[in-house]
Formats: sequence, C-alpha cells, structure tokens
Amino acid sequence: MPDNGVILEVEDVQKRFGRVEALRDADFELRNGEVHAIVGDNGAGKSTLIKIISGVYQADAGELRLDGEPIVLHNPREARQLGIETVYQDLALADDLDAAANLFLGREEYLPPPLGSLGFLDRKAMRQRAEEEMRRLKIGISSVDQRVVELSGGQRQAVAVARAIAWGRRIVIMDEPTAALGVRESAMVLELIKEVRNQGLAIIMVSHNLPEVFAVADRITVLRIGRTITTMATKDTSLEAVVGMMTGAVEAALRAEGS
Ligand SMILES: Nc1ncnc2c1ncn2[C@@H]1O[C@H](COP(=O)(O)OP(=O)(O)OP(=O)(O)O)[C@@H](O)[C@H]1O
Ligand SMILES: [Mg+2]
Repeated sequence: MPDNGVILEVEDVQKRFGRVEALRDADFELRNGEVHAIVGDNGAGKSTLIKIISGVYQADAGELRLDGEPIVLHNPREARQLGIETVYQDLALADDLDAAANLFLGREEYLPPPLGSLGFLDRKAMRQRAEEEMRRLKIGISSVDQRVVELSGGQRQAVAVARAIAWGRRIVIMDEPTAALGVRESAMVLELIKEVRNQGLAIIMVSHNLPEVFAVADRITVLRIGRTITTMATKDTSLEAVVGMMTGAVEAALRAEGS
C-alpha cells in the first residue's frame, strides 16, 4: 500500500463509445479522508470516469489501482465488494418503499432459518440499523418508516447518500449530488459529505456547481475533452482559474501571448 495516503489511482485511462472518445487520457489519484471534486464542461468525461471507477464501464486502456494493487472491475457489484459505493445522478431509490427498506435495497437481511430460508426479512434488524445510520449521519427525517416518495428532494438525496455511506467502506462516489436540490437541501447534503469525510472515507464528487466545490472539496481535478488537465489543492487555486482550465481559456490566452 502506498504510504502517502493514496487509496485509488487511475492511470492513463481511455474509453471510447464507437466514434466518440469519451476519455483520452484520464489520470486521477484519491487520498484517504479527502473530498475530491472532478469538474469539467458538459461532455468532458466526468460521468464516464466515475462509471469506470464504479465498475459500470470497463476502460479500453489504462489501469486502476486500489491500495497500490491493480484491480479490474467487471460490474458494480465487484466495486461494491471492494468498498466502493456510488450515488448516481438518478438516485435509483424505490419510491414505494420506506427509507429503511431503501437503505437495504439489494442487501436485505433475513431472519435466521427456517423462516429466513423461506425469504422472511428481518425487518426489525434492518429498521434498527437504518435508524442508527440516520442518527450517525445526522439525517433529519422524522421516521425511517416514511415512504421515500413522501420525502423532499433533499431528504431523498440524503437517503441515497446514507445508503452509499452505510455500505461504502472505502470510497463513496457522488455524481452531481445537489443538482436537483434547493439551497437548504444542498446545504444539508454538503454537511453530510463533510461528516462522511470526517469519518475517514474518501469521497469523489462530480459537480457543475463550482461554489459548492470550493466549499467542500479538498482537491479538484479538472477534465477537458477526455483529458485530465490538472489536480490542485482547493486552497491553492481560485474559481476563476478553474473556469479557465475547464474551458481552455487559460491555454488560449497563453497561446495568444506566444508562449
Ligand atoms: N454510453 C455512451 N454511449 C455513447 N457515448 C457516450 C456514452 N456515455 C458518454 N458518451 C459520450 O462521451 C462523452 C463524455 O460523456 P460524459 O457523460 O462522461 O460527460 P460528462 O463530463 O459527465 O458530461 P455532463 O457534465 O454533461 O454530465 C460525451 O461526448 C458523451 O456523449
Ligand atoms: Mg455527467
């Protein structure tokens, strides 16, 4: 394991969809206990990159390393087994189920045999665990029995984030976690992200919202047209500089100067 706190390395990753080169040369390094933002213009390759890290897509070339060991992910289940959880933009919550059931979606706990062998769920254990999880993350929903369809956008997002955090032992990835949220709800999700970071997980956050990125991210990686432009500590850069790198204005200005 690299001793510089690096948990995940992405090296020279390429991904093509037919004639579209979504990623040409993506490099990225994630450290333990950091919030790492990935930013870039529409179509820069951000979602493709995180889908490669979460096992949805396989890279055409390049390497992923977890704790210094090369890994190959054939599907999201393999990523989850390694402790990598993802909150996708569309959330994938089951509206008709309550928050507790959503937390355990696809990972239901069964009663001991013989009832468990017949498919009877251990609802009490799941409910208890869900309540503990919501408390730990300071998520304000009145009851874990409340159906998700009745929750506000921010609460739904919080349930989705809670699910990822509950199971993500190492890395939690979030694609545009606040895109659909109002000001107050966004603030709640951002607080949650900080809370999770403080508990030692590493977080990758894709976002279009640069003020938010500057509010929570420790480091920022800029992608442009499928390439990593740079990674910087948030405190060493500015919003204007990042916008310049996202759009290519910085290089255009340098070229104009003849350098
Ligand atoms: N499944 C796919 N099939 C074909 N082309 C795709 C697919 N997924 C992504 N692309 C293309 O790859 C490029 C990168 O897309 P990607 O979704 O990674 O961008 P993004 O940075 O997440 O953009 P946005 O900010 O709009 O979400 C785009 O040109 C997109 O059209
Ligand atoms: Mg995207």
